[in-house]
Amino acid sequence: MTRHLLCLSDLGAETITKLLDHADRLLARRKSAWPTWASLMAGEGVDDGARRPLSGKSVALVFEKASTRTRLSLEIAVVELGGHPVFVSSSTSQMGRGEPIADTSRVLSRMVHAVAFRTSSVERLKEMAENSSVPVLNALTDASHPMQLLADLQTVRRVRGRLRGLKYVWIGDGNNMANSWVEAAGLLGLELVVACPAGYEPDPAEVNRAKQRGATLSIVRDPLQAAAGADVISTDVFISMGQEEEQAQRRAAFAGMRVTAGLIERASSEVVVLHCLPAHRGEEIDAEVIDGPRSFVWDQAEARLHTAKAALTWALEADE
Ligand code: CP
Ligand code: NVA
Repeated sequence: MTRHLLCLSDLGAETITKLLDHADRLLARRKSAWPTWASLMAGEGVDDGARRPLSGKSVALVFEKASTRTRLSLEIAVVELGGHPVFVSSSTSQMGRGEPIADTSRVLSRMVHAVAFRTSSVERLKEMAENSSVPVLNALTDASHPMQLLADLQTVRRVRGRLRGLKYVWIGDGNNMANSWVEAAGLLGLELVVACPAGYEPDPAEVNRAKQRGATLSIVRDPLQAAAGADVISTDVFISMGQEEEQAQRRAAFAGMRVTAGLIERASSEVVVLHCLPAHRGEEIDAEVIDGPRSFVWDQAEARLHTAKAALTWALEADE
C-alpha cells in the first residue's frame, strides 16, 4: 500500500518514535561528516558517511504557497539521500492555470517516486493523494503541518531528553501548527495547554480525538496562566498564509497573546521556546525571547532537514 503522510496519524506513535530515532542518527552522521580544515590539509579523504537510499528516485515538491524551510529541507533531503528533487510552483506550472489536481497527480505518478504538496485545503491534499500511486507528503495545509511537528518533537527530545512527562504550551492562534500539536499530544499522550482568544481555537474534532486518545488537553484564555511551569512554549504567526485580509481583526484579537520575557519567567527554568518560523518579532514573540537563551528555533529549523530525510525514507520504504 502506498505510504502517504497526510497527517501525524498516518504514522502513529511507534513510527513517529522510529522516525525521530532515525532523524537523530542522520543529524549525528551529518555533523560528523563535515571535514575540518585540518583534516583536509592532512589529505584525509572526505567520507561523508552518507547512504543513498533514494538513488535513482525523483521527488516532486509541489508548492501552492510560499516556503523557505519546507522547500529547502525537502530539496536538500532528497539530494543528500541520493535522489533528484523537482520543484513545481503553482504559479509557473499549469496548476496555476486551472489544471485539476487529479490530472496533475496522475501525471506526477507516472514520472516521480514521491510528491510533497503544500496547499491550502485538506480537500486539495486529499485529491492529490487519492489520485496518486506514489507517496504524498503534506508540506502544510491550512489545517495541519505534520512535517514541522516531527522537527519540533525531535528538538524537544534532544534538548529535554524525552517527550512524555512535560508540560507543552501553545500560545496564539489555533491554526495548522496548533492542530498538529493537538494531534501529536493525542498520539503520544502529552499534556498540552492551548492559550488562544475565543473564536481562534484549534479544530474541535482534532481536540476531541486527542482527548479520546489520552492527551491531557485544556484550552485557556490567559497566556500567563498557561505558561506557569511550562517545559515547552510554542507559538506561530497570528496571520497565516491566506489570511491577509483578516489582518486588522486578527491583530486586535491576539493583543496580549505575545510570548514575552515576563511570560517565560513563569515557565520552567529549562523551558524550550519554539517557533516554526517565519517570526514577527514584537508581534507574536519578543525579540529578547526568540533571540534569547531558551530559544531553540534554529535547532528546530535544522531539524526540518533530518526529519524530512527520515519521513521520505519511511514513505519510500527506502533502506536506511
Ligand atoms: N516552518 C515552515 O514551514 O517554514 P516555511 O513556510 O518557510 O516552509
Ligand atoms: N501558520 C503558518 C505556518 C507557516 C510555516 C502559516 O500557515 O502561514
